[in-house]
Amino acid sequence: MKQRTLISVATSSLALGFAGCTASDDARTSDEPVAATQQAVTAIGDALPGTDPTEFAAAKANFAAEEEITEGLGPVFNERACGNCHAIPTVGGSGNQIERRYGSITNGVFFAYDQAPENEGGTLRQLFSNGTYTFNGKTCSIPVEHEPADANIHNVGRRSLPLFGLGLVDAMPDAFFDAIVALEPASTRGTVLRKAPDYPDSRDPAQGIGIKRVQRFGIKDQQTNLVSFAGDAYLNEMGISTQSCFKGRSITAFANDNQSNNAPVNASCNGGDLAPRQPDGTFTDDAVGSCAGGLDEVQEDMENFRTFMEHLAPPPQVTSDPVGFAAGAVVFAAVGCAGCHTVLPFVTPAHPFNGVPGNFTFFPFSDFALHDMGSLGDGIGNTGDPVATTRQMRTSPLWGARFNTQFLHDGRAKTVRAAILAHDGQGLAARNAFAALDSVSQALLLEFVNSI
Ligand code: HEC
Ligand code: HEC
Repeated sequence: MKQRTLISVATSSLALGFAGCTASDDARTSDEPVAATQQAVTAIGDALPGTDPTEFAAAKANFAAEEEITEGLGPVFNERACGNCHAIPTVGGSGNQIERRYGSITNGVFFAYDQAPENEGGTLRQLFSNGTYTFNGKTCSIPVEHEPADANIHNVGRRSLPLFGLGLVDAMPDAFFDAIVALEPASTRGTVLRKAPDYPDSRDPAQGIGIKRVQRFGIKDQQTNLVSFAGDAYLNEMGISTQSCFKGRSITAFANDNQSNNAPVNASCNGGDLAPRQPDGTFTDDAVGSCAGGLDEVQEDMENFRTFMEHLAPPPQVTSDPVGFAAGAVVFAAVGCAGCHTVLPFVTPAHPFNGVPGNFTFFPFSDFALHDMGSLGDGIGNTGDPVATTRQMRTSPLWGARFNTQFLHDGRAKTVRAAILAHDGQGLAARNAFAALDSVSQALLLEFVNSI
C-alpha cells in the first residue's frame, strides 16, 4: 500500500516536471518570466534565468580568486580560493579535495576539542599553514595543525560538495522541510534541525538575531543559510576572517582567525598573516567597521560568494529518454530511495527574499534532513552529543550526481552503485532492496540517478 503511494507520487511529480516544460514552451509570451522550472536550464554552471549576467560574472570571478598571505590567508587554511575546491565540472561544482576532521568519544559522548579541558580549535584539522614569513623584520613560523594525541576518531574525510541550485534551497521556507519529513515512512524519517543563523540574512523578514531557521546546508546540516556558509567557509577553509553588520549590529561570528591547534595569537607576528591590522587593533582580515546608524552590510567578498551561489542554476536534467527516465523513477521509489531522496517537487515562494525566480519548480532529490546512517555515519558531532547523533548525515542531493567524481561524505565511493551499496542504518533496507533487484532494474535506477 505504502509503496504504491510512493510510486504514484514519483511518477506524477516527475511527469509534472516534464509537463511544466512543454506547457511553458507552448504558452510563452514576450512579457512572461523566462522560465518556471529546472527544465529551462541548459548547461551546468549557467546562471539562473532572470538574474543579471554581469553581476553573476563579477561574483564568479571573486569566488574563483586566490588569496595571498598579505590579504589575510591563514594562519591555517585548506585552500586559497573557493573556486579551487568547487570546480568540477565547472566553477561552483564539487572538488577532489578531502578535508580532515577528528574528535574523541568517551563513555558514549563526543568531544569536539573546542573547550576545556582541551581546546584545540574544534574538529577541523586545516591541512596547510602560512609556514615561515617575515613581519617587522622578525621571522615568524606557523606550525601545521596536528591531531591531539588522545583523539580516538581519526582523519575523517569530507569531500567538497557541488553548489548548483543552492540559492533555490536557501529560498525555501522552514515549513516545507517539516512537511517533507512528515510524509516520509517512519523507518526512514529524517530529523530537521534548527538553530539561530550565525549571520541572519537581512533581506529575509523571517530571519533575525536569535531566531531559529532550519539547518539545510553542509554534510551534517551545520548551517542555516548561504551567507553564513560563505562566512564560515572563508574563515575555516581559507583563514580569512570577516566582520559584517546586520541592521546596526556587528556580526563577529567569523571575525577571529583560527590559530594552529588554538595556540595563542602571536601579536608580534601580526596574528598569523600579513593583512593590515584593523583600526580598532583587531586582526580581523576584512571588516566593515562601525555598524552605527543601523548599517546593514555584508562584507564584500562574502556578499559576492553569496551572489554567485544564489544565482547558480541547478544542474540540467537529461531529458532525451523520457520513457527510461519514468521507468527508473518507478524503481527508485519502489526500493525506498525516495524515503530520503524525496521525489517531490520543490517550488520557490512567489517572491523569494534572495532574488531567485519565484514559483520556480526544481527537483534536488533530497529532504535536506539528517538520517542515522549506521556504519556510514562519520562519527563527528558537537561536544556533548551521544554517539547516535554522530552517525547522522544529511541526505545528499542527487541532482547533478553524474558530474561528481566521488561520492559520500568522504569520497570513498567512486560510482553511484558503490555509494548505494555503502548505505547502512536507516538506509539499509533500500540498499538491500537495490541489491536484490535484477540487473535490468538496477541499470534503470542507475540511469535515472545519472540523468537527474
Ligand atoms: C578546501 C576546499 C574548500 C574550499 C576552499 C571551500 N570549500 Fe566549500 N565545501 C568544501 C567541503 C569539504 C564541503 C562539505 C563540508 C561540510 O559540509 O562539512 C563544502 C561545502 C560547501 C557548502 C555547502 C553545500 C551544501 O550542499 O550544503 C557551501 C555553500 C560552500 N562549501 C561554499 C564555499 C564558499 C563560499 C567558499 C569560499 C569562501 C568555499 N566553499 C571554499 C570544501 C571547500
Ligand atoms: C535513510 C535515508 C536514505 C535512503 C533510504 C537512501 N539514501 Fe542515499 N543517501 C542518504 C544519505 C544520508 C546520504 C549521504 C551519506 C554520506 O554523506 O556519506 C546518501 C547518499 C547517497 C548517494 C551519494 C551522493 C553523493 O553525492 O555523495 C547516492 C548516489 C545515493 N545516496 C543514492 C541512493 C539510492 C539510489 C537509494 C535507494 C536505493 C538511496 N540512496 C536510499 C540517505 C538515504
